[in-house]
Amino acid sequence: MIEKKRVAILISGRGSNMAALIEAAGDPAYPVEIVAVISNRPQAPGLERARAAGLHAEALDHKAFSSREAFDAALEARLVVHGTELVVLAGFLRLMTSAFVERWAGRMINIHPALLPAFPGLHTHERALAAGVRVHGCTVHYVTPGMDEGPIIGQAVVPVLPGDTPDGLGARVLQAEHRLYPAMLARVARGEAPIVDGLVPVAAGDALGMVAP
Ligand code: GRF
Repeated sequence: MIEKKRVAILISGRGSNMAALIEAAGDPAYPVEIVAVISNRPQAPGLERARAAGLHAEALDHKAFSSREAFDAALEARLVVHGTELVVLAGFLRLMTSAFVERWAGRMINIHPALLPAFPGLHTHERALAAGVRVHGCTVHYVTPGMDEGPIIGQAVVPVLPGDTPDGLGARVLQAEHRLYPAMLARVARGEAPIVDGLVPVAAGDALGMVAP
């Protein structure tokens, strides 16, 4: 039996990255057990998707809490109940308090739809097209209090093609996300993505979609 890390996935919406992680975790050799899916939006389609896959999924409606601190405390309690070892953000559209982020330092990861440190924040595909870049992609990184600033774990690159629209480019990036996130979560779960002097040392295979040298 391989050792599996207990992972909670936090979502706010459709949950396509979550679905990719669920599929990966279906492999007995994958080093992760998904113990809970939690959404801050009760209507998130991802919740039903998770239940359909036989997982425990629950809503923790941020609107029911009077402050960010109160919401984060409730979230912390739920994570503890599930014995969570790693927190995976998959389209979780909610800023967390620094205290919460610090508590999960090195144990919480996120996927961002751009090649960080380019295009942190929202509307990344529009901004990539407006900047005239030729390659775009996605980044899996540890979460730190600064938004989209944590140590990079892995990236996947896609080309920008003639006539691309934000939606078309975004769909290409999303496909890359679905390959990158399961691969990088496995690395984190196996302890293969340590933070050394504020960075994760580059390992072979960290850059998906690149032409091999
Ligand atoms: C993805 O593009 C992800 O990079 C970003 O939010 C989106 C979530 O999509 N953080 P989904 O809910 O996983 O389909």
